[in-house]
Amino acid sequence: MAAGLSLMLLLACSPKDNQPSPQPAKVIPTPVELIVGTDSISVNKLTNLPQKVSISEKDLLCKLGDQALTDWQLKSAYWMEIGKRRVKIVAADEEGVFYARQSLKMMASLDSMVTCCTILDWPRFQYRGVMLDESRHFQGKEFIYKQLEMMALLKMNRFHFHLVDNPGWRLQIDAYPRLTQFTAWRPVPYFWDWEINKIGGDFVDEGTPDAYGGYYTKKDIADILAFAAERHIEVIPEIEMPGHNYETRAAYPELACSLEDGGPSKRELCPGKESTYTFLENVLLEVFELFPNEYIHIGGDEAGKKSWAICPDCQARMKDEGLENVEELQSYMIRRMERFAHEHGKRIIGWDEILEGGLAPDATVMSWRGTKGGLKAIAEGHDVIFAPTHYCYLDHHQDPEQYHRAGRHLPLEKVYSFDPMQEKIAEEDAHHVLGIQGCLWTEHVLEAWHAEMQLYPRVFAIAETGWSPAEKKNWPDFEQRSSKFSKVARDWGYNVYVKPMTNVAP
Ligand code: ACM
Ligand code: ZN
Repeated sequence: MAAGLSLMLLLACSPKDNQPSPQPAKVIPTPVELIVGTDSISVNKLTNLPQKVSISEKDLLCKLGDQALTDWQLKSAYWMEIGKRRVKIVAADEEGVFYARQSLKMMASLDSMVTCCTILDWPRFQYRGVMLDESRHFQGKEFIYKQLEMMALLKMNRFHFHLVDNPGWRLQIDAYPRLTQFTAWRPVPYFWDWEINKIGGDFVDEGTPDAYGGYYTKKDIADILAFAAERHIEVIPEIEMPGHNYETRAAYPELACSLEDGGPSKRELCPGKESTYTFLENVLLEVFELFPNEYIHIGGDEAGKKSWAICPDCQARMKDEGLENVEELQSYMIRRMERFAHEHGKRIIGWDEILEGGLAPDATVMSWRGTKGGLKAIAEGHDVIFAPTHYCYLDHHQDPEQYHRAGRHLPLEKVYSFDPMQEKIAEEDAHHVLGIQGCLWTEHVLEAWHAEMQLYPRVFAIAETGWSPAEKKNWPDFEQRSSKFSKVARDWGYNVYVKPMTNVAP
């Protein structure tokens, strides 16, 4: 902040001698600059105060002084002054006004009195995300709305929608109706019973009594996108390839390798057959039409490659394309799909396995197996989103005694401790770090209350890491703010995990 501006704000707002120093607002994520005044007003008054809003880049630049922000930071930045008689907001874009109002809303939720203050604020990272796996267990539209609302309040801006995977396809695709008429439904609700205990058999037709599952129609997706857009959240769909396609093969067995029963790999598409590409392109065309944003996630993780090594179609493809091994065959598929995405004005994101066999030229890597993949991608000049398992996988449990204990112990403090801009990243490569994402896989997460218990309060920590400057992060202070806001969120009906354990199955 410019020295002159700091001084003016201090003169206007600094506490007078002998008065108790006012409490700063306890918002999450903590703002870049916050100068606390001496006056306080009641929340009732605050929510009815007139707002003077100026959407002007010039005015915002004036408030920013000598701070040089990138274009995307400028779009989200805001200056806000909460006085006794009115709230003034200055931003370069509607998005900045929206974030100012989210700060206001959070402040008003925390205390009955709000201390007057001036805030200057902008995000540290452009990608502040949450991923939800709805293939293993399906929650539906209302649940998504509720989580998008919370994300917006936390100034998060990317919702990664894991819509398709082995245990269920959740997106209407007109060209391939069996994906939703058949493989969106299974005979038992709990994924683990179905996958590991093999109860009830594979998939069942839509309409089968007691079938578990569901999917989003195109109208549902349009509704979700509209809801998200109003909150400045981009929804990134994930269409998995070539692995995690057990359900696709159940619906269309011809997409497996040309071997008995598809060969030893049971969840992979055949990257040798031309018909696989026709299928993927037809699916993506419908996805591109539905989702207006630039990015599409194409998965790319955990593909078993044993069938490819013996499938005649895969072998022929490798020979024709001069591919030396099955890793290069996967890379061939991802590069080809990237070309297709580019032809339609889209870019791809993939899990870090897409590095194996050679990275597609413009792909963004989502680093989940630690940070090594992300660092390698950055070294190769690619953009990266960090979602390392040990810090960002929200399916991992928060308490060893917790209901449905899964994964490692991942307490709030550990999530909070992760910094996407690790010391190993050179200054000149910093722009390749797009941001951070918390991922909720739902192998063990059947009900909505349980999903929320896994998400919160850890999503608060992801939000602060994504938005607040590194030097402003402070664990003891965050822990207090998180605990205070958790109570509010619980009053609003979110099942926030609280230590010691108070969450029990209803
Ligand atoms: C992953 O967890 N398989 C991306
Ligand atoms: Zn094959």
